[in-house]
Amino acid sequence: MDKLIINRTLPIDGEVSISGAKNAVLPMICASVMVSKNSVNIRNVPHLHDVTTTLRLLTQMGVTTTMDEQMSISLDASTINNSFAPYDLVKTMRASILVLGPLLAKYGEAKVSLPGGCAIGTRPVSLHIEALKKMGAVIEIENGYISAKCNKLQGTCIEFPKTTVTGTENILMASTLARGKTLIKNAAMEPEVIDLANFLIKMGAKISGHGTSTIEIDGVENLEGVSYSALPDRIETGTFLVAAAITGGRIIVKHAISSHLEAVLKKLQQSGAEIHFTESEIHLDMKGKRPKAIDIDTGPYPQFPTDMQAQLTALNAIADGTSIIRENIFENRFMHVQEMTRMGADIKLDQNRAIVVGKEELVGAQVMATDLRASASLILAGLVAKGKTEIERIYHIDRGYDCIEEKLQQLGADILRVPM
Ligand code: EPU
Repeated sequence: MDKLIINRTLPIDGEVSISGAKNAVLPMICASVMVSKNSVNIRNVPHLHDVTTTLRLLTQMGVTTTMDEQMSISLDASTINNSFAPYDLVKTMRASILVLGPLLAKYGEAKVSLPGGCAIGTRPVSLHIEALKKMGAVIEIENGYISAKCNKLQGTCIEFPKTTVTGTENILMASTLARGKTLIKNAAMEPEVIDLANFLIKMGAKISGHGTSTIEIDGVENLEGVSYSALPDRIETGTFLVAAAITGGRIIVKHAISSHLEAVLKKLQQSGAEIHFTESEIHLDMKGKRPKAIDIDTGPYPQFPTDMQAQLTALNAIADGTSIIRENIFENRFMHVQEMTRMGADIKLDQNRAIVVGKEELVGAQVMATDLRASASLILAGLVAKGKTEIERIYHIDRGYDCIEEKLQQLGADILRVPM
């Protein structure tokens, strides 16, 4: 197991190129099992453990998967021989639940392990299951597995009582091959959902309304393999912007889509950053200033993303003033707070709120990553903390950030990965 060693780096200065979006690529890989003709080619795939895990999941179902040096993956579902997603793989990555809808729609059966516990909250999948039942699937939960069967899924109106990203994606994928029309109401509007819809449309699906809260799908008989390039990762983009803002530095983020980050850019501007953007770049300059404290309220897109909450907590920990951060998506997503407190941060938790009193300085310490975005926030804190910070359990970071330490090194950061 490796750890990261970070020494204070003030300021960050340079250019970074953003990789493809993890949360767009994972559902696309899963959707590839629905194809009847030609293989699927996905480009701009990030080099991540979660991608490797998803490919392993499909490989053990018999799908032929190949990846080239440019991180373009090719998936041929004509060799599929089972529709089983075992606990061993699902437990390491909750997004594995995304195979449920596609397998059921195409093969009429699926056996997928229930994902189980998660560090950031309870994260049930009952909304996925209830929606598939409403489409005609017979689903039983037995021995920790979801066993689902159907003749052919039937289009219907699914109104999610709560907005769910992977729930919307599962039903969106399943309904492309269902009989008749499906309406998804209170659908998630995240850019990754839109990218998945565009990918499915290219494969022959009939979808409209994606990007709004009501998506309409007219089922088709078959989908065909296509070549598609995934959109850039908005959370990786936001994380690098915070790296510059927290260190009083400046950055040019390339291959980024600013419109996907409006809520985050607004907050960074309030904290004192000068930001401008072109079609594919975001430029941020903090001009050596200490950030001002900013309140955050997380919510479904287009509100402030929960996946950027930990990074902004780090920024507020060294900001001028006191801030209140409300986490409205996942009840337990404050695991980074205890670790930041070990670095001298003044943060009090009160149910789903963190009250952060900005300190002039944090101090390096040995800390532990608890989940993907928490790991990123500890790296950010390490960049500004006096002395040396050591982050353990960094396998979390490799699940979702493509070459993070190399990219930070290019920006001048003193960060090193060493074996423990
Ligand atoms: N929820 C339920 N029942 C369900 C499903 C969800 O109550 O059946 C609740 C959740 O507990 C949560 C809320 O609904 O309170 C929203 O959860 P959602 O289903 O939208 O989350 P998800 O689909 O499991 C995706 C991302 C997460 C991201 C969230 C929120 C993927 C693969 N994962 O998770 O990404 O935080 O949406 O935006 O797309 C990450 O990348 O670090 C990450 C955790």
